[in-house]
Amino acid sequence: MGKSYPTVSGEYQKAVEKCKKKLRGLIAEKQCAPLMLRLAWHSAGTYDVKSKTGGPFGTMKHPEELKHGANNGLDIAVRLLEPLKEHFPILSYADFYQLAGVVAVEITGGPEVPFHAGRPDKATPPPEGRLPDATKGSDHLRTVFGVQMGLSDQDIVALSGGHTLGRCHKERSGFEGPWTSSPLIFDNSYFKELLSGEKEGLLQLPTDKVLLEDPVFRPLVEKYAADEDAFFADYAEAHLKLSELGFAEC
Ligand code: HEM
Repeated sequence: MGKSYPTVSGEYQKAVEKCKKKLRGLIAEKQCAPLMLRLAWHSAGTYDVKSKTGGPFGTMKHPEELKHGANNGLDIAVRLLEPLKEHFPILSYADFYQLAGVVAVEITGGPEVPFHAGRPDKATPPPEGRLPDATKGSDHLRTVFGVQMGLSDQDIVALSGGHTLGRCHKERSGFEGPWTSSPLIFDNSYFKELLSGEKEGLLQLPTDKVLLEDPVFRPLVEKYAADEDAFFADYAEAHLKLSELGFAEC
């Protein structure tokens, strides 16, 4: 489906550029790129193609959505961002949170994900239960990413590479530990670690491991482990799609 982006004012576009710079500073200082990427992804990943509800429309700021079990810990991200948001009242929360996700990837050494402004803030948070369950298998990933969000198998594997950043926190998800030994660097080490098997101190969720078992997913894991440029290109494409679910569709 083609995209038809709304035209934003010159003033709005200038605020986006200025805010992007400020986000670089804030995220670097607080070393919170992983949490910001998770915030952007959990904001967007609730999109449901059929009902056209959920998605990257700023609803994560509502306590109701922050209380969803899958969002444990994201109140910290919202709180860290709030003082900066106050300097940019013109921006929608929808754009602001997605911009934070794009900056998180960029400043940790990942690809530049294109950003288009103009997402509106929506009033109603999505119902709970749309984000993936880490204990499930490939059918579940295809239901959530494919049927619900309208993304492809390639998008599933590329986006799973987001786990190159950050870690699990026992008190948030019940899981503990990082996926790689450099959780503040965005590279293809997630795929290399996945292929090299379990290692002391590192973690693989059941939904990470299924990428090795599925006949469509596995060759992509191998490709991304061998070729970081290929991973970055596919990741940028998939992240762009994720960040624009339900936005600017003709
Ligand atoms: C494939 C389905 C996915 C599942 C089941 C899943 C599950 C999880 C879980 C359980 C955590 C740990 C949360 C915590 O305890 O703090 C986590 C963290 C994280 N996830 Fe995912 N995730 C998925 C996909 C993604 C995607 C698509 C992205 C981004 C493109 C992403 C980015 C992250 C990041 C950056 C963290 C680390 C957050 C931090 O360090 O605070 N995840 N994920």
